[in-house]
Amino acid sequence: MTATTAHTAPASADTACRDGVDLPAVARRVGTPCHVYSASAIHARIDALQTALHGLDALVCYAAKANSNVAVLQLIANAGLGADIVSGGELWRCLYAGIPADRIVFSGVGKTAEEIADALDAGVARFNVESADELQLLQHVAAARNVVANASARINPDVDALTHAKISTGKSENKFGVSIDEARQWFASSAALTHVRLDGLHVHIGSQMLSLDPIRAALQRVAAFWRELTAAGHTIRSIDVGGGLGVCYRAGHDHPVPVNDYAGAIREALAGFEGRILLEPGRWLVAEAGVLLTRVVRIKHGRERKFLILDAAMNDLLRPSLYDAWHDIVPLVDATRPSQTYDVVGPVCETGDTFARGRELPECRAGDLVMIKATGAYGASMASTYNSRPLAAEVLLDRGRYAVVRERQTFEEMVAGEQSADQWETA
Ligand code: LLP
Repeated sequence: MTATTAHTAPASADTACRDGVDLPAVARRVGTPCHVYSASAIHARIDALQTALHGLDALVCYAAKANSNVAVLQLIANAGLGADIVSGGELWRCLYAGIPADRIVFSGVGKTAEEIADALDAGVARFNVESADELQLLQHVAAARNVVANASARINPDVDALTHAKISTGKSENKFGVSIDEARQWFASSAALTHVRLDGLHVHIGSQMLSLDPIRAALQRVAAFWRELTAAGHTIRSIDVGGGLGVCYRAGHDHPVPVNDYAGAIREALAGFEGRILLEPGRWLVAEAGVLLTRVVRIKHGRERKFLILDAAMNDLLRPSLYDAWHDIVPLVDATRPSQTYDVVGPVCETGDTFARGRELPECRAGDLVMIKATGAYGASMASTYNSRPLAAEVLLDRGRYAVVRERQTFEEMVAGEQSADQWETA
């Protein structure tokens, strides 16, 4: 079979078609690499989560960092969700996409005075405060504007999330949140905060968690603290349980927590809580809705290993390089081809630009279309133009139709903002 016929070889229907759209056709029209997201799959996750939370006074604040494409945020806005943001840029994006400010919560250890001011001016619902210094800054900036900021203390419960160290946030050695001891002091002296209403708790211990145990442990610590604070006369209006629910990156290997079990753990830990429960899922809502479409540039037979060289690289999908993360890889080719073992790599000039090592796949040829799965979260949102590779196109699928929701960046757009050094100043 020639390389040309290989392009047209039939791929199995369940993989080549997503949300009623033929992926090879999208790849031909939009080009590769290309991030593709199924709107129906995101809606299905939103519905499942809302159903699991039924009867609770709960607001789902989507963690915008997972996938901050404006069209995805618009879908989130239209579904009535809020957002969890961590920067002025995310605030701007979420407002631009139509997420109401009163459904936005602001997390992060490095909020600047300017970001806090912008968020107050926009009227965000709540600040998840991560240090005493930030609490004072919030008081100061709110006082200067004569407004009162709603604030939650982000608790670091010292719980191991049992996930990759780089995305674990709830151990006392991590930079996030404060100890219950410190938060207790914040509440004890909160009467002095004339422009901050400290009436909430927040916890987020890590990401891609595949076990309920650490989630339960963290919730129990926060719940015990809420009961203690209530007994001491403080009013707790909001408990934010963060995000972190894991997804399946490796079929047959990763076993995500069923969403009803997750909701059950929240119900159990926070039984009797009369305020509002906030959730900040990112990955769980969007990861498995996305795939990265890429083509084989060539096969290279090294002395020791066989390399499948794709036109996607670490700049398009950083997770394998940064966390050694596994993503299932599916060549959209005739499934009867014999299998081969490849190191699947990109064109970037780093050995770390590797999507998989020693992966067994159907034999591939130049031009074949390959799908890297579960790339809807932390894929495009972590992309860069490293090696001067323009940002990839992004496409939203919805029941038989598709829309390009990010045009592939042009070279001119890639250098926009850069300029020759003809305007010299002295300082
Ligand atoms: N809330 C806060 C305060 C967070 O820091 C995060 C994620 C979330 C919610 C959402 O977590 P999720 O539900 O998506 O697990 N780039 C990494 C993941 C970093 C997560 C950072 N914080 C990755 O690709 O695995």
